[in-house]
Amino acid sequence: MKLWGGRFRKEENQMMEDFNSSFSFDKRLYQEDIMGSLAHAKMLGDRGILSREESEEIREGLRGILSDIQSGELALSGDYEDIHTFVEVNLIQRIGEVGKKLHTGRSRNDQVAVDMRLYARRCAEELHEKLEELVGALSKTGRENDCIMPGYTHLQRAQAVTFRYYMEAYAAMFRRDMLRLENSRELMNESPLGCAALAGTTHDIDRGQTAKELGFRKPVDNFLDGVSDRDYLIELLADMSVIMVHLSRLSEELILWSSQEFRFVSLDDAYSTGSSIMPQKKNPDSCELIRGKSGRVFGHLTGLLTTMKGLPLAYNKDMQEDKQPFFDSFDTVMAALSIMNGVIATLRVHRERMEESVKSGFLNATEVADYLVAHGVAFRDAHGIVGRIVLRCEEKGCAIEDLSLEELREFSPAIDESLYAYIDYKNILKKGNKKEML
Ligand code: ARG
Repeated sequence: MKLWGGRFRKEENQMMEDFNSSFSFDKRLYQEDIMGSLAHAKMLGDRGILSREESEEIREGLRGILSDIQSGELALSGDYEDIHTFVEVNLIQRIGEVGKKLHTGRSRNDQVAVDMRLYARRCAEELHEKLEELVGALSKTGRENDCIMPGYTHLQRAQAVTFRYYMEAYAAMFRRDMLRLENSRELMNESPLGCAALAGTTHDIDRGQTAKELGFRKPVDNFLDGVSDRDYLIELLADMSVIMVHLSRLSEELILWSSQEFRFVSLDDAYSTGSSIMPQKKNPDSCELIRGKSGRVFGHLTGLLTTMKGLPLAYNKDMQEDKQPFFDSFDTVMAALSIMNGVIATLRVHRERMEESVKSGFLNATEVADYLVAHGVAFRDAHGIVGRIVLRCEEKGCAIEDLSLEELREFSPAIDESLYAYIDYKNILKKGNKKEML
């Protein structure tokens, strides 16, 4: 079913009709579509373009459609070109001739643009809420498992950090993601309704009124841009891609840490799966799937950038291709955030294993050099001295603190008894700006 046809002599090819139809996926915009129409109809009545009674009748009909969809009485199914056609056809069936006046001074071009902005704005808010939950879970799990662990560079043990601080590093990333979403929401929050097809309308409509009614900051500045701007979707896809980068990195850590090689953490059974052949296996599939799904979200960003890059102004049907990638990315990122939230909230942290790992691998070598500097040795010389101490320890298979004072003093006379306390892992984090990690 379509809203046009007057100028056509022939029926549309069936394959073309299916190819053109977006109803199967844009039906999820039903609420936004009706909200936009309610604001439009009210404005038409207030401006005297429709009579007050006509405007009220239309709005009553729209409200009825919304509540019937919500109650399940009206199914979002049938042979419609898109959600806009579905709502308008149902309106006319419900209230008769007057329903045909709703589309006065409006095009599907500004209609779909306003629907998508409203929908995307809600997505930004829901993502923001989910991120906030995850930040809370990371901080809580970090606080409840406050122990030291090795920090790495090049995936080689480097220096001691705390598990809580490690979790806070991810919380910092997700907080940045929240700011990015707030910024995107602010930028996109302008109403394209009233741009009509591309060049406004001869009716004396009030774009300011509909913008306000729908909670937008203001109407867009330019009609041509208003109907063809999809920057906000690209931007949200980019925001979601960065979220997935962060989730994927965290997933990678958890996959490594839960391996037999690390044994730093165990994932809860609720977020793990088994093997059909190897009875002993418990696999971190939750994290692997999050890591894997990042590719699909990045792909959607690249896809929409590519769709948009060659389009002349104003609306082109290519833009219908904005919806599935955006919806799929949103669903994927929301699910990934919920799963990660569960993984973190139920994570078991093996503090003894982490602490044990700190003790091998010379994670206090830098602090031995700091000690020498504090005792008058230039840093570059101190670096060389500690390198030689580490070589000796490797030969003997021991840690720096296991060497006797006598042996240590062979390397530098600046060393005395106080070195042992200085490089004890219990004390290291209490010095300098390392205190911030506690
Ligand atoms: N389904 C279309 C879309 O998603 C709606 C706009 C249709 N506009 C048009 N001129 N045919 O972009």
